[in-house]
Amino acid sequence: MVREHIYKVFPNDMNANATVFGGMIMATMDRISLVVAERHSGRVCVTASVDDVHFMAPARTGDTLIFSAVCNRAWDTSMEIGCRVIAEDSYTRRRRHVVSAYSTFVALDDDHKPARIPPIAPETGQEQDRFEEAGLRRETRLEHAARIRARRSEHHDDAERD
Ligand SMILES: CC(C)(COP(=O)(O)OP(=O)(O)OC[C@H]1O[C@@H](n2cnc3c(N)ncnc32)[C@H](O)[C@@H]1OP(=O)(O)O)[C@@H](O)C(=O)NCCC(=O)NCCS
Repeated sequence: MVREHIYKVFPNDMNANATVFGGMIMATMDRISLVVAERHSGRVCVTASVDDVHFMAPARTGDTLIFSAVCNRAWDTSMEIGCRVIAEDSYTRRRRHVVSAYSTFVALDDDHKPARIPPIAPETGQEQDRFEEAGLRRETRLEHAARIRARRSEHHDDAERD
């Protein structure tokens, strides 16, 4: 189920370029995505990774930001949440797609260890597309993480790097 969150932009949300500060948008995306993950799993969740954050267009003071998030797919203990942000001019109602991101959340048990979660059963064509595409993104992100780990262990420099 898609969850929405409305945020009215005020001047204190601006960066030095007079557009909305991207860090505020990312923090809000993380919060709404967390709520979707916790509702799906029924557990405390943590953000494991965020990838594919795309800022497509700026948002400005006076805009209304509409955040929406949905659980695209769940695996054993992790799930991908897709989040999109639309900026709406409050007076003309013209809408622009400003940001999209995909985050992976992991559900935790009472010992703070990864816990099993229910699967997602896509029903509509759109849900099926999200489900399949989440699988492709997971392959890429896990392969990427494994390659970085392997390289660092070859170079014995894991502890000194971020
Ligand atoms: C996320 C975390 C719980 C994973 O712990 P871990 O010991 O690596 O657990 P595992 O190796 O058993 O992996 C658990 C799941 O996380 C997934 N995962 C781990 N690292 C990941 C990453 N970088 N990106 C995407 N998924 C990841 C695994 O694929 C696995 O998913 P699956 O069970 O659905 O197949 C741990 O790394 C952690 O606590 N990180 C800090 C989280 C945090 O503080 N976030 C910010 C504040 S909320």
